[in-house]
Amino acid sequence: MTTLLRIDASARRTGSLTRQLGDRFEAEWKRERSGDHWNYRDLALQAPSHISEDWIAAAFTPADRRTARQETRLAESDRLIAELVAADIIVLCVPMYNYGMPSALKAWVDNVVRIGRTFSFDLSRGDFPLEPILSGKTLIVLSSSGEFGFDKGGVRGEMDQLVPHLMTLRHYLGIAEHHLIRIEYQEFKDERHAASVTKSLEESAGLARKLTASLSQEAAMA
Ligand SMILES: Cc1cc2nc3c(=O)[nH]c(=O)nc-3n(C[C@H](O)[C@H](O)[C@H](O)COP(=O)(O)O)c2cc1C
Repeated sequence: MTTLLRIDASARRTGSLTRQLGDRFEAEWKRERSGDHWNYRDLALQAPSHISEDWIAAAFTPADRRTARQETRLAESDRLIAELVAADIIVLCVPMYNYGMPSALKAWVDNVVRIGRTFSFDLSRGDFPLEPILSGKTLIVLSSSGEFGFDKGGVRGEMDQLVPHLMTLRHYLGIAEHHLIRIEYQEFKDERHAASVTKSLEESAGLARKLTASLSQEAAMA
């Protein structure tokens, strides 16, 4: 059984394009593999708390020396990390906001990228002391933007702070494989946008079929 974690980061619960991409992916996946387990984290319903001075102090105190109050402060982070650890595949439905990620998603990242839980820190490693603890996960980024041309070499290729940020974070989330599908032109509401929506929805369904087929093939060969 594969465990998937779907994270919705759009503040919109109605009319959201990233949620539509997620719904299409999920429906196709479930049609092919109904026995897999899905966990859901909707950041619009409940944004994770921002980290704070006491959170940082608690996270950097060795687990066996934490006070009860510090344990309580980290409880939310523990829950979010447990969902991440359990996931084989992370389906991240994420809009571009102000050229980067929505703040609720950034709060999620700050809660899950945590010393001793998702990464280790050791100065004997020299200039790159951080190493991930997790491994082998697949990240699927289903995104949408109002403007267009954010791919490398595109007219706004230098303005994208969303995908490059997620790509950098892959290391700390234990991501071994990733896929990106994105709708563009949402603010233009023209035929380019319509074509982009159609294409991305088809790609979402196609990706779900491809990944489920390869999992079934692996299971047959095992
Ligand atoms: C607060 C906010 C900020 C946005 N910033 C950008 C931006 O910087 N660049 C861009 O291309 N689109 C931007 N957009 C447009 C969204 O990326 C686009 O509407 C997307 O479809 C939103 O995702 P959703 O449909 O899942 O809600 C912004 C939208 C909102 C609401």
